[in-house]
Amino acid sequence: MTNVTMDTSSFRSFTPREPQTGVPREPAPPTPFISFIKPQGQLYNYNRHKTHKDQPENIPKGFRDAMSVREKVYVEEQGVALENEFDNDDHRSCHWVIYASVNETISPAVLDPQTGALLRARRSTSTALPIGTIRLVPFPHEAHPRNGGIYLNGVLTNVGDPVRPRSSETVKPLQPQEIQGGSRRNSLYIRDFPTTFHNGQEPYVKLGRLAVLKEFRNKGIAGQLVRTAISWMQAHYTVFNPSPTTLGFDRLGMDVTGQLPKWRGLFCIHAQEEAVQVWERYGFQVDEKMGKWFEEGIAHVGMWLRVEVGKGGHTVA
Ligand SMILES: CC(C)(COP(=O)(O)OP(=O)(O)OC[C@H]1O[C@@H](n2cnc3c(N)ncnc32)[C@H](O)[C@@H]1OP(=O)(O)O)[C@@H](O)C(=O)NCCC(=O)NCCS
Repeated sequence: MTNVTMDTSSFRSFTPREPQTGVPREPAPPTPFISFIKPQGQLYNYNRHKTHKDQPENIPKGFRDAMSVREKVYVEEQGVALENEFDNDDHRSCHWVIYASVNETISPAVLDPQTGALLRARRSTSTALPIGTIRLVPFPHEAHPRNGGIYLNGVLTNVGDPVRPRSSETVKPLQPQEIQGGSRRNSLYIRDFPTTFHNGQEPYVKLGRLAVLKEFRNKGIAGQLVRTAISWMQAHYTVFNPSPTTLGFDRLGMDVTGQLPKWRGLFCIHAQEEAVQVWERYGFQVDEKMGKWFEEGIAHVGMWLRVEVGKGGHTVA
């Protein structure tokens, strides 16, 4: 887990108030910080039926912290089934977790009852509390979701059904022959239907699982997470491009550099319909041609953003 220096200038409510005459100044709240969790091969034994507290020891703490926020927001608040919150993309994704330092009193101050003199100072400890998270999924991806599709745990279970099931127990998955598209994860290349912002082939990365604990919302936390993830990807724009050496083309003396997929600055999100305005603040645009579908019973639409690669410093509202 690597600490990332972050710009805290937009933590509006974390700015200490100006001192007022006769009123003691509020203590400056501690500066939140963001941790970066790189893709983790060792998540293979993550138990999706248990919470982050009951996972095997080899699951990195940073990832468990991300799941603690996702469980509070998506499972408890929005009613997503716990077993569907962790998915197969978590292994190969980058995750960021934002923490706030929270002070807890261990023992209160003790005053002399007669004189009021301080006999023992208050003892407190500070804990880093995970309060927000986001993940970035590298390409390739499954085919774009189908308009009107109903997905549970990433699997298309029905199309155009007005029922919005919330648990995988309530519906039967469609048979493979009933699903158009199939799995794309094993292919280097994307071949999808063209949409308003995607030609069906260009490699793109996906941002998602953006969540901030209720008590910490409207303080610019989501903005910090989105900006951090976008800037990181802009700076590391070649990191997911397949390498001719790893693929063995170099050994064969073949020059395939021009033919391998390369990330050229395209981000996609599957946004909850109610969060569209949040993503628009960061420059994402709704893709009308992707329609609307349901993931875990929640209406979603497709949104895209193109950034310049190799620049960093994406500006969000
Ligand atoms: C969406 C979410 C991540 C926003 O987190 P946040 O830290 O409160 O967001 P920020 O403070 O960075 O910015 C939010 C801005 O968008 C606005 N906003 C927040 N939620 C909004 C919503 N649902 N609809 C419209 N605007 C919204 C806020 O008013 C704020 O605007 P302001 O700066 O003008 O006051 C948080 O509300 C959340 O976790 N929601 C539940 C999970 C979710 O819906 N995730 C998105 C999945 S696509």
